[in-house]
Amino acid sequence: MHLLSMFLAGIGVVNALENGLARTPQLGWNTWNSFACSMNETVILDAAKKIVSLGFKDLGYNYIVLDDCWSAGRNSSGYLIPDAQKFPNGISDVADKIHALGLKIGIYSSAGTLTCARYAGSLGHEEKDAAVWASWGVSSEFNLLLDILVVGLLIHVQIDYLKYDNCYNQGEEGTPKLSYDRYNAMGKALNDTGRPILYSLCNWGSDGPWNFAPTIANSWRTSGDLSNVWDKEDVNCPCAELDGLDCKLPGYHCSIMNVVNKAVYYPSKAYAGAWNDLDMLQVGNGGLTDDEATSHFSLWAALKSPLLMTNVLNKIDEPTISILQNTAVLAVSQDPTGSSAIRMWRHYVDDGEIQMYSGPLSGGDQIVLLLNGGSSARDMNATLTDIFWANGPKGTASQVRSAWDVYDLWGGRMSNATAQGIIQGESSTRPIDMPKLGGASKVYSQVPLPASKALMGTKVGSVKASGTVKAHVRPHGVAMLRLRAQKSNDEL
Ligand code: GAL
Repeated sequence: MHLLSMFLAGIGVVNALENGLARTPQLGWNTWNSFACSMNETVILDAAKKIVSLGFKDLGYNYIVLDDCWSAGRNSSGYLIPDAQKFPNGISDVADKIHALGLKIGIYSSAGTLTCARYAGSLGHEEKDAAVWASWGVSSEFNLLLDILVVGLLIHVQIDYLKYDNCYNQGEEGTPKLSYDRYNAMGKALNDTGRPILYSLCNWGSDGPWNFAPTIANSWRTSGDLSNVWDKEDVNCPCAELDGLDCKLPGYHCSIMNVVNKAVYYPSKAYAGAWNDLDMLQVGNGGLTDDEATSHFSLWAALKSPLLMTNVLNKIDEPTISILQNTAVLAVSQDPTGSSAIRMWRHYVDDGEIQMYSGPLSGGDQIVLLLNGGSSARDMNATLTDIFWANGPKGTASQVRSAWDVYDLWGGRMSNATAQGIIQGESSTRPIDMPKLGGASKVYSQVPLPASKALMGTKVGSVKASGTVKAHVRPHGVAMLRLRAQKSNDEL
C-alpha cells in the first residue's frame, strides 16, 4: 500500500469517492480555447487577477484551470515537472498566488501515455502524479522521502481540481469497464492524497461516462470539443445525436446545437457532485452572435453543465460581461435542487428546429426554456401540461392547476454602460453586491430566491391554471423563464 494512503487511512482522512465537491456545477476559467499551448504563468495570473477585479469571483467563478501543455515531462524519479520557461517560478508559486486571491487552481493530464497535445500523460503514474499535484512545492528529487514529505506539506494546499483527458489511452477503452478502471485509478489516487480535488473527466462521452462516472468523478464530458459555432455539420465531429450515445470518434469542432442535441438524453444522470459537462464556454470567443452566445450560456446553465469561461479577460467586451455575469441565469446553474432541465419537446420548422426545456428549481419554482433554433424570429409557447409533464402526464400534475408568475431571466440583463463601468474598475456599478449578502453560494441557495431584478430578472406576466406560457424568441435565441406559483388561485 502507498505510504501516504496508509498514513491517511490511519487518521481517517477522505476514504470515499464522495469528496463533497461540486455540489453545484463548478464555475471558473480555463486556458485552453484562447491560449492552447501558449499558456504560461503570466497569462494565468493575469486571468486570475481579472476574475477578481471584474467581479467574477464574487459571482462564484472560482476555479482557474491550467489545461494542456504545462509540463516538461518527468524527472529522473518519475515525477511530473512544470515547463520552466512557461513557469519560471514553478506551479506551486502560481498556486500560491491564485490561492492568495481567494481562488482555486486546477491542473490537467490525460488517462493515457501522452496528453492530447503530446505532453507526458498519467496512465500508469496515477499515484505519483496525484501526490505531486497535492503537494507541489516538494523537491521531488528526494524520491524515497516524498511520501513522508507530502504528508507533512498537505497543509500547504496546492491543486484543487484535475481535468483528466482521454488521449493516447493505449486502446484501454471500448467498454464502460475499461474506461471506468482507467479513470477510477486516478480517482483513487486523488482520494488517497487526502486533499479534496475536484475530479473532472474529459473522455468526450466515450463508453457512456454518464453511466460509469457518477460514483468516481464530479463531472464528465459528454461529447467532442465544442467550437464557437452555433450549428454546422463538421467532418471533425462525425457523431450526431443518437450516435452520441455510443460515439467512436467524438472529435472536435462540435457545434452548440450538436452538443446540446446529444446531451438531452441523460439529464437524469446529473446530480449534486456529479454533472454532465457539455464542454467549456465559448462566450466571448467570437463566432457566435449575441443571441447565440446568450442561448449557449442559458442552455449550459439549465442543463447543469460546469461553466468554465475561456475568453481573454483582458479584452472582454460589454456584451460578454453582461452574459457571463447574468446572476439570474447563474442562480439557475447554482440552484440547490441540482436538477438538470429536460427537453420536453422538439419540433422541426421551415428554417430549423424549436425546442422546449423544463425543470424544477428550489422552492417549487420551475425553469422553462424556449429555444428557437430557426433562423427567423417567432412566437413560441408552452402549455403548463407540457412544462409539468414530468410531474404527471397529460395535465395530471398538480402544478398544472396552479397559476404562475412568469419572470424573464434575461429581462434584467445589465446595460452596456454598467458593463463598461465594470471593465473600467468601477465596482460600484455592479448590479448585486454578493459579499455584502454573504457570498455567492449563500445568495444562490436562498429558498425562495428573492424576486429581485438581479436574481429573477423581470416579471413579464402570469399564466392561469392549465394555461400557456408565451414568448417572442429571436433567431437562435432563447426565452429563459422562471415560473413561480402565485400564492393563491383567488388572484386569478
Ligand atoms: C482535448 C480536450 C480539450 C483540451 C485539449 C488539450 O481532448 O477535450 O478540452 O483539453 O484536449 O489538448
